[in-house]
Amino acid sequence: MTGPRQGGVEPARDYDQMVDWGKRLGREEPFFRGLFAEAGVRRVVDVGCGSGQHAIMFAGWGLEVAGVDPSGPMLAQARDNARAASVGEPGLRFVEGGFGEVEALLGGGWDAIVTLGNGLPHVDGPAGLAATLADFAAALRPGGVVVLHLLNHRRLLDGRIRMLPAVLRETEEGDRVFLKVLDYVEDGIMFDFVTLTRDAEVGPGADNAFTYDDPAATGWHLRSRRSVHTALPVDLLEDALDGAGFTGVRALGDHTGRALDVGADESVIVVARRAGEER
Ligand SMILES: C[S@@+](CC[C@H](N)C(=O)[O-])C[C@H]1O[C@@H](n2cnc3c(N)ncnc32)[C@H](O)[C@@H]1O
Repeated sequence: MTGPRQGGVEPARDYDQMVDWGKRLGREEPFFRGLFAEAGVRRVVDVGCGSGQHAIMFAGWGLEVAGVDPSGPMLAQARDNARAASVGEPGLRFVEGGFGEVEALLGGGWDAIVTLGNGLPHVDGPAGLAATLADFAAALRPGGVVVLHLLNHRRLLDGRIRMLPAVLRETEEGDRVFLKVLDYVEDGIMFDFVTLTRDAEVGPGADNAFTYDDPAATGWHLRSRRSVHTALPVDLLEDALDGAGFTGVRALGDHTGRALDVGADESVIVVARRAGEER
């Protein structure tokens, strides 16, 4: 019996393949440009920066940017992406670290801190969220802006939604299907990220039945990664931001800046300002 083979691609590359970055950044760019102009942002930290695509975009606008992530492979991918985009130090740097460590790693006085693409639920429970936001407040200047972009957990929790829309990408490794299957556990949402890959070179055969333990028959491979996320419904985020000294908290439903429809929107963007005298 043959066991399932490895799909052959690293999670960090999986991530860049799964996300249509051209489309996503095109949609998000006007939002960040407007917000950063309004808040006088020149220096920004992206925590949970992943493969660095936002950090690279911000640096391309001439901002000073630090991308922070605990994952070595993600940081390596971010540095590769930055090289490919011809952006780098001193305007852009990538630093190994995570939630709760921003001020210790990068000091204070930052104009904006963003955490995007559902990175925030990696905090360790509500106490971890409080510590994360306190650290953001310490690293921001008064009037500095925070942007939290994540799945709309209130909709997931209330609807007990079991699966996010599947994504299909045509890649050099063949067709890839990205699935996210959700389970609800105490205080959290467990995500199984399942990646199926179909080797491009495997053609039609006499017997195309799928056999789990003999992927050579059809060329399909399966890889699954599991992680438990802290449940962060928007009401909890709003309270936690208030408790950490943020004001002007706004919950948006997408990057056009319209108000959140909590029962319908897939994602939420929460924007707030650090209280205190502006410079
Ligand atoms: C889904 S990716 C989001 C990447 C990117 N920000 C985006 O918008 O697409 C989540 C990222 O959070 C990072 N992460 C995991 N645990 C973290 C922690 N404790 N602190 C900060 N980032 C963390 C992961 O390494 C990963 O790069």
